[in-house]
Amino acid sequence: MFGPKTHCVVVVGAQWGDEGKGKLVDVMAERADYVVRYQGGANAGHTVCIGDAQFILQQIPSGILHDNCTCIVGNGVVLDPEQFFSELDGLGKKAIATGGRILVSERAHLVLPYHKQLDRAHEKSQKIGTTGRGIGPTYEDKYGRRGIRVGDLRYLESTKALVAERVARANQLLELMGASERASVEEHHALLDRLAPRLVPLSTDTGYLVHHALKQGKRVLLEGAQGALLDVDHGTYPFVTSSNTTAGGAAVGAGIGPTAIDEVLGVVKAYTTRVGNGPLPTQAADGVEEELRKLGGEFGAVTGRPRRCGWFDAMVVRYSVRVNGLTGLAVTKLDVLDTFGEIPVGTGYQLDGAPCTVMPSDVRALEQVVPQYEVLPGWRKPTTGARRLADLPPEARAYLDRLEDLSGAPIRYVSVGTRRDQIIEV
Ligand code: IMP
Repeated sequence: MFGPKTHCVVVVGAQWGDEGKGKLVDVMAERADYVVRYQGGANAGHTVCIGDAQFILQQIPSGILHDNCTCIVGNGVVLDPEQFFSELDGLGKKAIATGGRILVSERAHLVLPYHKQLDRAHEKSQKIGTTGRGIGPTYEDKYGRRGIRVGDLRYLESTKALVAERVARANQLLELMGASERASVEEHHALLDRLAPRLVPLSTDTGYLVHHALKQGKRVLLEGAQGALLDVDHGTYPFVTSSNTTAGGAAVGAGIGPTAIDEVLGVVKAYTTRVGNGPLPTQAADGVEEELRKLGGEFGAVTGRPRRCGWFDAMVVRYSVRVNGLTGLAVTKLDVLDTFGEIPVGTGYQLDGAPCTVMPSDVRALEQVVPQYEVLPGWRKPTTGARRLADLPPEARAYLDRLEDLSGAPIRYVSVGTRRDQIIEV
């Protein structure tokens, strides 16, 4: 999507996450100078396959696998420092040169062990189905103005005093919630002592850096995590994550103005999945769901949880096109549908016998909607070797044409397998 007039592209998930953003970012990063993660944290699991090697990136932008790219963890991310360094060291062991190629915003908030303890305790009563990575409590602290930021580590002694206060507060909350575990000030201080000397040298004003890179004509990819329907404002609240996953969040979370963004690519699976609790209107019937899960390897990259599976939901994707301002779509995992004789596509919903013109904002309504389906013929041939649209069976092309019509955005990429080369650029 990069071109003479396209320097800044956002890649977002347009369903409930796990659409295959990691692979798309990896493919596009070949032509990028910078890849910036702008929200979320270690709840994400971006899988990239190169030959036989598989990489699951959680906090490090998927551009790290191309040595032309500088990778940035933006201010909108909540950074788990322990996990970040173990991920970085893991890449080093796989011979990926990361030295000098990764920078972290001094404004990014830190996920500390007490956030994970609070996440687990909240989950006992709220049952959102979180990843347990402390994401919600860290964003709560950010907006409650009691967060600890990467830049605070430059002032280690005063930050340690702040952390002691936060740990005491977390312990009060844990007690209130009837949790048995408690956070330890000593453990938190030891963690800060250990990690600050590694993190501080990587920290900088990354928004300034991205702004100047764009002014110099560099190409910047803004990498979203999760998906639009998990956005804290636009998703299936309260069954959402705690950040703005949609394209508006990209400007805020990368530290640039919205007018700097040229294109927004929405990644969608050729069907639909969801992990965690909350409505999934086009969820398939038991046996078929199991088949989709098996064929698509639909298990969470971070938690290993089985994903719920269903048919492509055009109501969701149309909504996503609108709230993200998508200028293009990337359809992934088309090959997973290769063996089906018939493929239902959700075209819209009915609620109380009337068609829904917009996506219902309330989960109680969403639990009651009746999806309307159109059944398309399958192609029953492998698509994994296709590298051009013309290589696809006519039924597969007709399927893609229908998804494009129903969604309202042009298809720019089609992915037909996990490997880097299994992609069609339209
Ligand atoms: P949290 O982000 O861990 O707070 O989880 C909130 C919701 O978002 C849960 O339903 C999670 O399963 C879901 N979620 C968080 N990260 C991802 C992801 O990367 N892919 C898919 N679902 C996610």
